[in-house]
Amino acid sequence: MTDVNRQEKIIGGRILFVDDEVNILRSMRRLFMDDEFEVFIAESGKEALQILKDEDEMGIIVSDQRMPEMTGVDFLEKSKTIAPHSVRILLTGYADINAAVDAVNRGGVFRYLHKPWKDDELLQTIQAAFKYYNLIKENKRLTALVLKQNEQLKNWNNELETMVQEQTMKLSNSNDSLQRLNDKLYNNFKGTILAFSSLLEMRDKSMRSHSRNIAEVVRRASESMELSNREIDTLVAASFLHDIGKIGIPDLMLHTEESKMSQHEWTEYSKHAVRGQAAVEGIDGLREAGRLIRHHHERYDGLGFPDGLRKNAIPVGARLIAIADFFDKKFRRQQGGSAIDKVGKLVEAESGRAFDPRLVPKVLKAAKKFYADKESTSEATEMELLPYDLEDGMVVSRDVLSGTGVLLLGAGTVLNSKNLATLKRYYQVDPANHGVFVTTR
Ligand SMILES: [Fe+2]
Ligand SMILES: [Fe+2]
Repeated sequence: MTDVNRQEKIIGGRILFVDDEVNILRSMRRLFMDDEFEVFIAESGKEALQILKDEDEMGIIVSDQRMPEMTGVDFLEKSKTIAPHSVRILLTGYADINAAVDAVNRGGVFRYLHKPWKDDELLQTIQAAFKYYNLIKENKRLTALVLKQNEQLKNWNNELETMVQEQTMKLSNSNDSLQRLNDKLYNNFKGTILAFSSLLEMRDKSMRSHSRNIAEVVRRASESMELSNREIDTLVAASFLHDIGKIGIPDLMLHTEESKMSQHEWTEYSKHAVRGQAAVEGIDGLREAGRLIRHHHERYDGLGFPDGLRKNAIPVGARLIAIADFFDKKFRRQQGGSAIDKVGKLVEAESGRAFDPRLVPKVLKAAKKFYADKESTSEATEMELLPYDLEDGMVVSRDVLSGTGVLLLGAGTVLNSKNLATLKRYYQVDPANHGVFVTTR
């Protein structure tokens, strides 16, 4: 088939002629007796409407205006509901402006032609009408296609969104379980550090909760400094373990004041800083804390041990621990209500000598608040309760020890679901012969 034939094929189609004069219908049929057109004829509007109902897809409707029962305009108007997309043409035998206006407004006609027609003109009009009809059909097809594709796109988008949501949920679930695992590991790690530090304090009862106090003061002091969470964790771990190297020191020497030690005793004692570092060296997560442990007896003026480091050569964490360590030791030996101020003055006297003058105010502020809180807690009304009667928010007023003397919670600790669970577990394994002393806040 040539291009021209294909074009004609497109232009051809189904056409319905309506006229009450049978002769006219005959000549119409003759005129369009062509393969490209499928011609239908009707002698009245009524018959034509029936044809439209029976046949689908009528491209063109050509109707005479003057017919006995139903005028052309009336028929064309009715045909719109049955065949809304057909292209309508009105033929009329005489000039009638009203019929023309009606044909456009009511009949929705494409063209208005006069009888008698010229065959060429009618053919051209019909062809133009088919072009118009095909355009409308193509437009309809494309619109439907666009709508369908839009719908498909919407569905794909929805599917994609669901998939993304599912993936996000899966990711967030695995993140959650990773986080829980991490938290568990982290808590185990912290528990191990606490257990180490408790072991040491079990031997030297005079230093009970010493490490815990230092850890808390140093943690509070570090809040005003720009340290990362990791650095603060290291600092707290080192505070708990700073004297872990003392585990190997004989009991007698452990209870001798530093100023009263013999040369030999002092040499042994001073090794605890290096031994402490060596003890944790094999644990990846504690290597940096080990560095702070090694240097917690260095002095700002360079007269400390083990390496005689000065000023900023001493790690900042070790400088903080040194001040808090000194405060706690002196505070234990002070009596009376002004103990905090007295110890504060002793620390200030060492500012620039043993201690970094820039860190002294930070540690003092934290220490004064911490020891004042501890004192006020022990003054509040105290109750002795069994572990199962304890509640979240109560404050431990005396150190809690297990039956065999392991320090479980330091005085001043606020109870929460976590430490309560640990406490209850310990009380089953190694119960004390008394309750836990608490105050309510
Ligand atoms: Fe020490
Ligand atoms: Fe210490």
